[in-house]
Amino acid sequence: MSGQRIIECLDCGHSISFDPTIIACPNCGSLWQEIRYPYAQIGADLPGLLSQRPFDLWRYRELLPILEYHPSISLGEGGTPLIHARNLGTMLGCPHIYIKDERQGPTNSFKDRQAAVGVAAMKEAGVAEAVVASTGNVAIAFSAYAARAGIKLWAFLTSLVPGDKMREVAIYGTQVIQVTGSYDQAKKIAAEFAHQRGLYLERGARSMPSVEAMKTIAFEIAEQLTWLAQQEDHSLGEKFSQGEKAPHWIVPDWYFQSVSGGLGPLGVQKGFKELKEAGLTDGLPAIACIQTAGCAPMAHAWKQGLDTAEPVQSPRTHISTLSTGDPGRTYTLLRQRMLESNDLAPNGCFDSVPDEEAFRAMHILAKLEGISVEPASAVAFAGLIKLVRAGLIKPKDVIVVNCTGHTMPVESAVLGDNWARNVIAPSAAVEETPQEGLLAALSHVTSDTFSSILIVDDTEDARRLIRRILQSQGNYTLYEAEDGRQALEIAAQKLPDLVILDLMMPEIDGFGVLDQLKSNPQTQPIPVIVVTAKELTPDEKKRLNGHIHKLMQKGEFMNDELLDEVRALVK
Ligand SMILES: Cc1ncc(COP(=O)(O)O)c(C=O)c1O
Repeated sequence: MSGQRIIECLDCGHSISFDPTIIACPNCGSLWQEIRYPYAQIGADLPGLLSQRPFDLWRYRELLPILEYHPSISLGEGGTPLIHARNLGTMLGCPHIYIKDERQGPTNSFKDRQAAVGVAAMKEAGVAEAVVASTGNVAIAFSAYAARAGIKLWAFLTSLVPGDKMREVAIYGTQVIQVTGSYDQAKKIAAEFAHQRGLYLERGARSMPSVEAMKTIAFEIAEQLTWLAQQEDHSLGEKFSQGEKAPHWIVPDWYFQSVSGGLGPLGVQKGFKELKEAGLTDGLPAIACIQTAGCAPMAHAWKQGLDTAEPVQSPRTHISTLSTGDPGRTYTLLRQRMLESNDLAPNGCFDSVPDEEAFRAMHILAKLEGISVEPASAVAFAGLIKLVRAGLIKPKDVIVVNCTGHTMPVESAVLGDNWARNVIAPSAAVEETPQEGLLAALSHVTSDTFSSILIVDDTEDARRLIRRILQSQGNYTLYEAEDGRQALEIAAQKLPDLVILDLMMPEIDGFGVLDQLKSNPQTQPIPVIVVTAKELTPDEKKRLNGHIHKLMQKGEFMNDELLDEVRALVK
């Protein structure tokens, strides 16, 4: 099948048969080339082939720029889970949010795909020594695969890269060159070094294997959404209930990704386009490219309607992973494809979020979803929150967010100091029985001294979200009621310090619960926060007036906003 692949030059249009040793266009010398595949044939063959292959990146090998499959260098790349973010979805009022968990790749970031395919392609091209410039994760991933493939690697890292990440590059035996300067400067120096020594240079969006590798994210998402819709997620199944002639796979409405140089979205965009060309899907997702505000050349250009991004000379961000100041032609290509793929409106957008919003999103994800991401990944989630709030994302949209990297290497920088409570175990020399000593030491972390809160909501998702928000604070004793009757019983029995009350419930609704709480002298003083999805009429607002402390609309508040209200009412 490889003979049918074509390399096409994006500048002069010259096309030749695929050959792994081709780096520049033999006609005009351009480095901007693209691989095209026999899509109709692949569309016919692939579903059958896939049923016999494991769920990893290489299952799509007919759509990758390699001649052979190289299991000997594999580290188990690709095949990362697609995780339903129920709590985040409930909080944002968008139930179909899925996280493509790229942390679960061999070196914990989505750059594993680029390195796995890139190093396989290097092997096929006979490369023995290579050079890469990086903000951290690219170098880590290439180092691991180069080690397996027996390729010597030079990594040029900007000095802004956290020390823990630099050390990880070094441990694989890569030659680490720390460049005191910006990432763009590190790239220039690396290119010069490779040129002088005649070494292979990994060029990101201008290296065909790198772009091609990122397509596999799109392929996996389409397959995984289809499985979820068929097997587990009934509401997703309803949304995508398909006729007999429907294509095999489904695509999300939105794909979100944090962007530095833009390689990831460029590949993912191509991947979704290829699935459509192969007749395996019938649509394209809108691609949301999110940058950090301190280094957002693409978002600025997009807002101004420009097709070329003005480089940011001095990025001002703590998120060094995303510090590409000059995205060059990648932005132009991404934008062009967003504009051409949909006649009605651009199929995607570029936006930016401040570092603080990314750090906030990191905490939300860790505390509500159990997913600990690095700040660069959190930028995409902060962008999602921003676009949901702006009304660009509709409640029924199916959204996939690329969780591009793991928190581990940067945890010390983002967690602050007060993350543990200390228990000092009594010394063995103390005369009392050890049991008593331990109990005394633990007394200040037990829950009987904590304020108590009753959560009343008939939907499990809403109760779980509120419980999780309060639990992540750690200092409350929580009771839950799933209807009005239960709520009144628990309130009378436990006399909680606060009630968080839903309004729309069968039988005794929230208004009824409130009336009875307020007419009982014992429960009358308990403060109440109403959390509702209901659009209240003026009469209903009047009914609540003076009886509740706060009205919060479901889907419109963030975790810390609820916590602030709770803290204002209970100790
Ligand atoms: C964790 C993480 N997220 C996002 C990005 C952005 O990558 P790109 O814009 O090249 O797709 C990077 C780049 O290194 C990264 O390491």
